[in-house]
Amino acid sequence: MQEHDVIVVGAGGAGLRAAIAAHEAGADTAIVSKLHPVRSHTGAAEGGINAALREGDDWELHAYDTMKGSDYLGDAPAIETLAQDAPEDTIRLEHWGMPFSREEDGTVSQRPFGGLSFPRTTYAGAETGHHLLHTMYEQVVKRGIQVYDEWYVMNLAVSDEADPKDRTCHGIVAYDVQSGRIEGFKAHNGVILATGGPGQAYDHTTNAVSCTGDGHAIAYRAGVPLEDMEFIQFHPTSLPSTGVLISEGVRGEGGILYNEDGERFMFERGYANNDGELASRDVVSRAELTEVNEGRGVNDEYVYLDMRHLGSERILDRLENILHLAEDFEGVDGLVEPMPVKPGQHYAMGGIEVDENGATCVDGLYAAGECACVSVHGANRLGGNALPELIVFGKRAGYHAAGKDLGEAEIETGYGDDAEDETGPDVAVELGEAGLDPSPAGGVAADGSGQVADADAVLERAVEAERERVEYLMGRDDGVKHADVRAKLQRAMTRDVNVFRTEEGLKRALEVVRECREEYQDVFVEDPSRTFNTDLQMTYETRNLIDVAETITLGALVRNEFRGAHWRQERQERDDENWLKHTMVSWNGGNPSIWYRPVILEGEEKAYEPKIRSY
Ligand code: FUM
Repeated sequence: MQEHDVIVVGAGGAGLRAAIAAHEAGADTAIVSKLHPVRSHTGAAEGGINAALREGDDWELHAYDTMKGSDYLGDAPAIETLAQDAPEDTIRLEHWGMPFSREEDGTVSQRPFGGLSFPRTTYAGAETGHHLLHTMYEQVVKRGIQVYDEWYVMNLAVSDEADPKDRTCHGIVAYDVQSGRIEGFKAHNGVILATGGPGQAYDHTTNAVSCTGDGHAIAYRAGVPLEDMEFIQFHPTSLPSTGVLISEGVRGEGGILYNEDGERFMFERGYANNDGELASRDVVSRAELTEVNEGRGVNDEYVYLDMRHLGSERILDRLENILHLAEDFEGVDGLVEPMPVKPGQHYAMGGIEVDENGATCVDGLYAAGECACVSVHGANRLGGNALPELIVFGKRAGYHAAGKDLGEAEIETGYGDDAEDETGPDVAVELGEAGLDPSPAGGVAADGSGQVADADAVLERAVEAERERVEYLMGRDDGVKHADVRAKLQRAMTRDVNVFRTEEGLKRALEVVRECREEYQDVFVEDPSRTFNTDLQMTYETRNLIDVAETITLGALVRNEFRGAHWRQERQERDDENWLKHTMVSWNGGNPSIWYRPVILEGEEKAYEPKIRSY
């Protein structure tokens, strides 16, 4: 068994930043990751980091834009923390050697991004995430922080009191991909999940194959609620054949969207008369699909993104990476032709419920980055707000887990006094029809046996359970292959839990998700190897995707309104009277419960009044 004070799971931007902070606060810190750090999906982030760095801009404007972008579903204490901390944390990256793009006078460049009232997106070409990852990994190496790379985290070691708020996380169980060994890792202070998004629940996604919602699923099954999972971002410019991302930076630099008839539809068809292509992502994605659905798409599938008019000098200076991606993955030369683009799953606004210090309701368990929901993005994330979230909340989670006092959090976690399980008649009907319990049993996700054991016993039991599970999966001669279940799940999610959602489609998707769960009961691992057994790892990941996909679909089914990225055919308007609240899903022993928590609109000095959101 390995032992550390703080164990960070995942080595993308949030994980590396959390580890640096925990180490800085004096904790013996280790990172456990299924990938080598510089292969983490943060490396695919192209566009940039929003931070109010310039004269004429300030954190309050950034906070306002973020709240408006969230369609008033973000929590003000989290949004204000993000906007206040982002400048200093971005400058710290610069001091660590991050090669930001610069102006002629040497100042760090910033470009416009969608939904921003000031050009505040700081960038490094169109490979910002790549440089961010390398810069922070250097800091991890410099500090001698131990990295267990290519160790897949199978589960958490959490005590099993009935109420999740009484539980404690004592560590993790991980599988060494290289040797096949399964080991317990004890965490004296805490475990920080920084495992990224669940994009592989979809088959057209900008996300890497590693984005399988592992942290979401293991926290959820340990009793931590998942929050606002229905809010999935579809990025307007992914390449049609592969889902590879074409950065919003292209539109930030002046790139234009055309339909098949050569119309600049964002303006000419009135989707966003002020901001056009730089409206927020949910608006642009819906506009593109409306063009396609109404017969003005190219090949009935996509639209064009044109950057030729920017000129080769500017493109090569600021967007060179985009040329390579378009050429390599679509065979298009962006200097001489427009690029085909369509919406692709890109980001999960929701995630593991945490407070501003990264803490979940389970003692010793933290989360940061895309897997967490603090919530800064609400119903729609603004482009350029994911990377500051990683560095700001990664840092805070690291400090807090290491014992540094960050002050008491304003955001409550876990089922408590402010929770609302008055699901309302519509919701109750929806849930009833879907065969679900409308409110949490006994007020909590009560799947524990009530047995309290000491840390070592909890860990040993968790390790043993995973060893038995692996023997079972590998001991079978026949059964269902995880790849078939995963493909079925991805098709259903892409077809029915996409940009445009209908009650009928969501119910169909929920049915398929549940069929996948049934089929998964019969899953087996065909590859008998004990080393580099990706079949085994992907079998684990597929289970996680099923559980996470169910929470996305359920949340979407019950939220009968149109807010941010969540559009519903039956109710095409925002309904603040009934739906200004976070959707919480608790595992509840495998029979998910839905409950609600109020949105916090009161900031430090002002309250954010929900307004009509137009661009
Ligand atoms: O378009 C992009 O470069 C993506 C940025 C983001 O998701 O923040």
